[in-house]
Amino acid sequence: METIVFIILYVILFLSTLLSYPFLRKQKRGFPIERYKLPPGSMGWPYIGETLQLYSQDPNIFFLTKQKRYGEIFKTQILGCPCAMLASPEAARFVLVTHAHLFKPTYPKSKEMMIGPWALFFHQGEYHTRLRKLVQYSLAPDTIRKLIPGIEHIALSALDSWAASGQVINTFYEMKKFSFDVGILSIFGHLDGGYKEKLEENYRIVDKGYNSFPTKIPGSAHHKALQARKRLNQILSEIIRERKEKRLVEKDLLGHLLNVKDEKGETLTEDQIADNIIGILFAAQDTTASFITWILKFLHDDPKLLEAVKAEQKAMYESNNGGKEHLTWAQTRKMTLTYRVLLEGLRMASIISFTFREAVVDVEYKGYLIPKGWKVMPLFRNIHHNPEFFSDPHDFDPSRFEVAPKPNTFMPFGNGVHACPGNELAKLEALILIHHLVTKFRWEVVGSESGIQYGPFPVPQQGLPARFWKQSSCPS
Ligand code: HEM
Repeated sequence: METIVFIILYVILFLSTLLSYPFLRKQKRGFPIERYKLPPGSMGWPYIGETLQLYSQDPNIFFLTKQKRYGEIFKTQILGCPCAMLASPEAARFVLVTHAHLFKPTYPKSKEMMIGPWALFFHQGEYHTRLRKLVQYSLAPDTIRKLIPGIEHIALSALDSWAASGQVINTFYEMKKFSFDVGILSIFGHLDGGYKEKLEENYRIVDKGYNSFPTKIPGSAHHKALQARKRLNQILSEIIRERKEKRLVEKDLLGHLLNVKDEKGETLTEDQIADNIIGILFAAQDTTASFITWILKFLHDDPKLLEAVKAEQKAMYESNNGGKEHLTWAQTRKMTLTYRVLLEGLRMASIISFTFREAVVDVEYKGYLIPKGWKVMPLFRNIHHNPEFFSDPHDFDPSRFEVAPKPNTFMPFGNGVHACPGNELAKLEALILIHHLVTKFRWEVVGSESGIQYGPFPVPQQGLPARFWKQSSCPS
């Protein structure tokens, strides 16, 4: 119900934008646009566009039907916004890589305020480049390899607690906790338990309110989330103050955020640091949790594949003195089959099904006009599920990654200047969790419901309810 109210109010909100939208303008910025036509497709009903068609079915079927009818680029109108959808690798590359300067990231204002307007993914240009270098460095292989023992500790505590509880758990929900803890580790290194709990408690409220209707009415999920977001700033401020007082020069992400200076010697403000920390936790949590939940489902559904993955992992376990030594970075690079399972999982699940940009000028693409102000959406999932690039795309087949995919056809982490800087960390977390899961535990999916649930990322139905056992105490 809340979603319907949300959609209707959004539609009303966008009316003003739409009414002032110069659909029929004869304009003249940069190049003669009258020579170009808009992409094929339908703008749907006045104002509402095709919002109801999109929301009343699986969004991927909506896009696929359009792609079959109109081809690699088509127009539509969603929530009052005219959009150009791009379903080919070339078109996605045009927007995200070769002509990225003509398109800016675009998010609803309420989301920007919730995460914090200084988070890097809202930006383009000099600020974005500076922040991105730093974040990329903090999440690069040479940095995250040092996190392996910490991630192993988090993975084993989680697995032990699921097994010890004897209860059916919501796998996605538990994976959210796992990826949050790894996120905290990568940002703060070791963080005092008290701070971690406070961050977790308030972040959970923000997360709950993030997709609710944006209203400042006290008691609403959105309002509670805004209050919790303010408290997060206070907690982060305390952590920063403590670090400065103790003159701790740590080499974690927070350390880098505190030390970076621009060409004038200016450091980042506390708001800029806080927004980027919350932004990274936000970008990391549901995506990684959804990814690992899908991997568990795909392995569970294919017992032969699971046995082969177990054999690969068991060999590492034995060479580590029966699991008594920590995994090494080199070992994680040799998990060939498990790694292909991850890649195929990323393709099948296509967790970020598409992304948004906005044209900052009138743009011409293959004879079509994308007018300034239009939203532009590269459709990653459509590309990942196109039989032209991935044969039998609905089959889960890790062996397809024995050969590298064609250029620009595989973009689970995006492409270009905003591509995911956390991709190596996400894969490392998954490898470590799977290693410990298959060498020491057994799990069983409960219930027979299959299908996808969107929240908004695709997750197996009900978050994949499952029960876990330690192998030593498995029921026969
Ligand atoms: C399987 C898990 C993940 C997936 C599928 C994923 C996917 C993506 C995608 C597709 C983008 C580009 C979005 C766009 O172009 O609009 C992105 C950006 C980003 N991701 Fe991830 N991500 C994952 C995990 C992570 C992790 C673990 C972190 C950090 C620890 C992270 C941090 C970020 C950040 C900061 C950006 C914005 C980069 C920028 O704007 O320059 N992500 N992610």
